[in-house]
Parts: sequence; structure tokens; C-alpha cells
Amino acid sequence: MRIILFAGKGGVGKTSVAAATGTRVAELGYRTIVMSLDTAHSLADSFDLDRPLMDRSRGLPVEVAKNLEIQEVDVLEEVERNWGQVKAYVSQLLNVSGLEEVLAEELAILPGMEEVSILLYLNQYVKEKTYDVILLDCAPTGESLRFISLPTSMEWYMRRVFHLERSIARIARPLVANISPVPLPDDAYFQSIRDLWARLEGVDTLLKDSKVTTVRLVTNPEKMVIKETQRAFMYFCLYGMSLDGVVINRILPSEVRDAYFDAWKVTQERYVETAEEIFAPLPAFRVPLQQGEVLGMKGLRELGRQIYGDADPAKVFFSTRPYRFEKKNGAYRLVMTLPFVGKENVDLNVSGDELIVRVGTFKRYVPLPRSYQGAVPTSAKLRNDELTITFGESHGDAKGSSVDIELDSLEKVIQSRRKRGRRMTRIEVQE
Ligand SMILES: Nc1ncnc2c1ncn2[C@@H]1O[C@H](COP(=O)(O)OP(=O)(O)OP(=O)(O)O)[C@@H](O)[C@H]1O
Ligand SMILES: [Mg+2]
Repeated sequence: MRIILFAGKGGVGKTSVAAATGTRVAELGYRTIVMSLDTAHSLADSFDLDRPLMDRSRGLPVEVAKNLEIQEVDVLEEVERNWGQVKAYVSQLLNVSGLEEVLAEELAILPGMEEVSILLYLNQYVKEKTYDVILLDCAPTGESLRFISLPTSMEWYMRRVFHLERSIARIARPLVANISPVPLPDDAYFQSIRDLWARLEGVDTLLKDSKVTTVRLVTNPEKMVIKETQRAFMYFCLYGMSLDGVVINRILPSEVRDAYFDAWKVTQERYVETAEEIFAPLPAFRVPLQQGEVLGMKGLRELGRQIYGDADPAKVFFSTRPYRFEKKNGAYRLVMTLPFVGKENVDLNVSGDELIVRVGTFKRYVPLPRSYQGAVPTSAKLRNDELTITFGESHGDAKGSSVDIELDSLEKVIQSRRKRGRRMTRIEVQE
């Protein structure tokens, strides 16, 4: 069982690479599905399929070749399938606030519902063993990070807020009913959230299991694209996901001899090397710019062959441990893989039994083992892409204690990588 996410900046070739990977693994005999996580679906276009055919699928899987299906989840259909009570309550709320019923129904589609629907499918497919390989064609970076952070945020919501809300609603409902036109959610609403939650059980563990789920970053040999890929790399690490490859797409092939492209070829060469160096030890897959748009089975098969050669794309090409707990010289430590962070971005906080690592606007909750509870972080250092947090005795209230973090600048990180001379472990692509 394998789940592979294809992520990266907008327009770099995520959909094409995910679809091409799908055609290769299906040819190798794996039962495969490529699912689109992008609300602006373009997966079917990549396979050059008729739109009416996809429309008729109503967001369910469509077979495109032997062993190969694709799915473009349709949020409207999913709201009907999964979110009946939640939608009913939200549209009732909006309706009370003066919106027309039809508009209220439309607006009752909340952000996150589509992502949760995809997680539901993912969990179902894994539990029912429907496929051997599930490939996820992600939306551009920011949105795909929201997707992978969802299970953690929902877990937090269910643990910390859900029960509270439910109790408050129970107590307050009779009181509020007399004085406010705004209805409080009823038991059916809470029950339906609980049911959805039960269907999501295990999905978080699945996404963080490096033997099952890995992320492949797709990038182009251009400065700004590589910068965003670095950020994506770091955020995926922050969420405890394993990365197992970087696909450097759209490299001008050496056959292009037109002088017009000379400068492009020089800068591309430099950025291909930079990318391989900074993403090492992740294997890098170099992919040439094709002669035309990549469309349809033939083009996708060719692209798949150029990316992976004879290698099996379902393989885990590289494995990292996102974080580990250890005891050294009597002190407890948490070591987290977190490359490419800048000092201004990171904030650490311990609250009760969890460590909250905040990088920019993203937050990660790391549950602490029992032996760490009550301890406070006393120092944090970033060396060699690893953030090491040392915990010490708590004097007084451990809640909300934070620690300043000593981090290398990006330039220093790259310099130290160069000094260490870490080269990538390249997968040989055979013609
Ligand atoms: N190696 C390549 N050579 C030539 N064209 C390519 C290559 N890779 C992708 N393309 C083309 O680039 C365009 C964008 O690719 P694609 O849709 O796969 O990118 P994306 O990252 O999924 O974009 P989005 O962020 O909008 O989802 C498509 O027209 C595709 O055919
Ligand atoms: Mg796409």
C-alpha cells in the first residue's frame, strides 16, 4: 500500500507528474488511483478526457486505462453525501441572518469540507484495500499544506473544543431558544460530526507513516520556484510527513541549440545543481521540457518513462524520521527534522502535554511522552537541518513557557551543507 503526494508551486507540473506516475505504476500491475486535491481540477484534462464523462462521474473514480482510475472529488456532491446535518445547521444559521435560502445553501459549504471528503475517501480506500497505489495531485503549496494540517487541527478541535461546545449547547439551548432567533446546533449536528470523525480514524497515522505515505516535490530550475519548494519542504517536515524525492521538471534538453536559449540553459544548469545540492539527500529526478504540452496517455507514458526510467515509482526512494525523542546526559530531548527555517519564523511553546511549534502561520502540535510532561524546553538549536529542543525541570507553572530559538540563517545552512559535502543519492534513470 502506497500513498504519494505530488506537491509544489503553482504551474510547475504537479498534475502532469502525478498522472505520468499513475500510468507507470498501473503498467507495472498496481491497482492505481490518481486523486485530484485541487478544487480547480485539471487531472482529466491531463488525460485528455471529455468533460461530460467527468461530469457524469459525479466526483467518483473513472477508469482511464487498465489498473488506472482517476477521481476529481466534487464538493457539491460530497456535501450531499457526507455533510447533511452540518450543512443543514449552517444554512439555517445563515438563513436566520437574513440570507435567502438558496444562497444560504450555497454558502453552507465551509472551507475544509472538500479536503475532509478526500481524507474520508483515502481512509476508506486504505481500509477496504481498493488500490495498491494512491497518488494525490495536490493544489499549489499553501492549499496542500492546509490539507495535510487538517487531521492534526481536527484532532485538536475534537479533543479540546468539541465536547465543550456540545455541553454548552445542551445547557444553553433551552435558555437561548427564548431570547435569540439564532438556533444552537442540535444533537443530530454533533452526532454527524462525531460520525465523520470516526470515519477519519487512523488517517493521521497513515499520512505520517513513512513506509506508506511520502511527498514528492515538483519544482522547476528557477530561483523563485526553488525558494518556494524549500518552504514546502520545511512545512511538510513540520507536519511530520516524509519526503522521498524532488522532481526537477522542464529542464531544457541539450539538443536545444538555438542561441536564443543560451542564457536560459546556463541559469537552468546552475539552478538544477543548486536544487540537487540543497534537497540532498533526497533523490532528484531530472525531467526535460517536452516538445509540446503533456496531454493524453501517450504523452504521459513518455513523461513517466523519462522521470523514472526502469525504477518502480511506487518504491519509497528515501526515508526520513520526522522527529524523535531521546535522553542524553540525563536530559530529555526532542530532535525534529526541520530544514530551511529562519530565526524570525519559529516559536516554541509547551502547553500541558504538547509542544506547539509555530513556523510562520503554521502550527504543529507534537504530543509529548509522559516522561516529558511538566518539563519545559530550556534550549533549542538548529544544526544540520535538525531542530534539537532540550527539556529541563519545570520551576512553577510549565504552561505556556516559550524559549528563544537559536537558528542558522539560510545561507549558513547551505554553506554547512557544502562543507559537509553531502551529495545527493541519485536514482540512475536508464534510457
Ligand atoms: N516536462 C514538461 N514539458 C512540457 N510541458 C510540461 C511539462 N510538465 C508540465 N507541462 C505542461 O505545463 C502545464 C502545467 O502543468 P500542470 O498542469 O501539470 O502543472 P500543475 O503544477 O499541476 O499546475 P497547477 O498548480 O495549476 O495545478 C501543462 O500544460 C503541462 O502540459
Ligand atoms: Mg495541477
